Amino acid sequence: PHDVGIIALEVYFPSQYVSQSALEQFDGVSTGKYTIGLGQTNMGFCTDREDINSLSLTVVQRLLERNNVDYKDIGRLEVGTETIIDKSKSVKTCLMQLFEDSGNSNIEGIDTTNACYGGTAALFNAFNWVESSSWDGRYALVVTGDIAVYASGSARPTGGAGAIAMLVGPNAPIVLERGLRGTHMQHAYDFYKPDMASEYPVVDGKLSIQCYLGALDKCYSYYKDKWRAKNKDSQTFSLSDTDAIVFHSPYCKLVQKSLARLFMNDFLSDPSPDYQHKYPGLEAFRDVKLCDTYFDRDVEKAFMAASKGSFEAKTKPSLLLATNVGNMYTPSLYGGLVSFLASRPIEGLVKKRVLLFSYGSGLASSMYSLRITSDRAPGSALERLVTSLEDLQARLESREQVEPRVFEKTMKLREETHHLAPYNPVGSIEGLFPCTWYITAIDEKHRRQYERK
Ligand code: ACO
Repeated sequence: PHDVGIIALEVYFPSQYVSQSALEQFDGVSTGKYTIGLGQTNMGFCTDREDINSLSLTVVQRLLERNNVDYKDIGRLEVGTETIIDKSKSVKTCLMQLFEDSGNSNIEGIDTTNACYGGTAALFNAFNWVESSSWDGRYALVVTGDIAVYASGSARPTGGAGAIAMLVGPNAPIVLERGLRGTHMQHAYDFYKPDMASEYPVVDGKLSIQCYLGALDKCYSYYKDKWRAKNKDSQTFSLSDTDAIVFHSPYCKLVQKSLARLFMNDFLSDPSPDYQHKYPGLEAFRDVKLCDTYFDRDVEKAFMAASKGSFEAKTKPSLLLATNVGNMYTPSLYGGLVSFLASRPIEGLVKKRVLLFSYGSGLASSMYSLRITSDRAPGSALERLVTSLEDLQARLESREQVEPRVFEKTMKLREETHHLAPYNPVGSIEGLFPCTWYITAIDEKHRRQYERK
């Protein structure tokens, strides 16, 4: 099959949020810490009415309905998530309820987990399946979803929640670039969830930033190797070969620092840097070592300033969901892709190359690229995809802002009732977006029941 890639995308985020500036006041931290220091504007969160199953049910049904895809046309369905509510039963099996009426149970794939990386692993599986001898001609469907919550303290403002579903198949408007994938995996205790009774992770914030930036360097270098091999050693890849650079976004400030870091990678590997135009004033940094610079203020400042134009043009447009919903974990990177696609008219998207960096603590990371097709005629797959994202801004704006104390109360309730059985959720149903799935009851055997609004 030709042009295997993403055919359609659907986003779901909770209908309520807390403002980061209100949270700064409420938490008693200095004004600007979350909004400027972390680059976050609002944070979406779920009440006890939603869990990973309901988020996934909502986003899958919405994707298939809005794109008029028949349930029989799905041959593979997988879920990438780190929001674990059952050690055995997958979210995928819960989603099979949606397929019952169609009679289609012949669907491969289950769940994949490693922090925020599971969605990318699921997507790679889907691409691989369509390109393989196992493919039966039908679509693959990938679900990324998480409820990202932290214990109160410095990590709490970096939470979020949401789900993104992607339809994968041939002749796609957003095509996977074959042979261009760099991966770095390593053992690290930067962020992990050893306490099965809690939704919260154990986090070493500083180490997680170092691991993220280190993985970024590695993946970029491996991606460049693949590029060189594909182009028969004739060319070195640099940021000027790409039109958009999208990152997993724990918080937006780290993304801006990451773009600066890729710029620094280009500079350090350039045999004859152009100090006049491209790298003015950076002579003093010619001999720095990547591994010595994770927290070097001077280096960070110089390269953030030098790469500001690239950041504004190629990365900032991808941060709409990241700054307004927060870190959704597995969907974060794909929220970046969606935000980029929704950020400009279709003429500005054709033939563009998008470079993506996926990171999941623990750690697993990859860099790869997608190419947008040139066919933007009315009724084309690209036009349909872009049109389907036109309501993104309006949906964000239609959410309800709630006070930090309501947010905190909700977090407390989730803490106290996490894994409780039997349990009847008390969160409001009226507040949910139309067509949202929600929990109606959890029985004494932990069996969960859902309904659609
Ligand atoms: N005005 C402007 N900026 C401010 C202000 C202010 N009033 N106060 C602080 N800042 C800046 C700081 O200088 C800092 O910026 P810098 O890093 O550029 O120096 C930034 O705000 C954050 O302040 P810190 O004091 O460093 O924040 P803290 O250590 O309390 O927490 C952290 C930040 C570690 C990111 C925490 O939120 C966390 O642990 N989050 C979860 C882990 C995470 O997301 N890791 C990233 C990769 S792993 C993953 O994806 C989960």
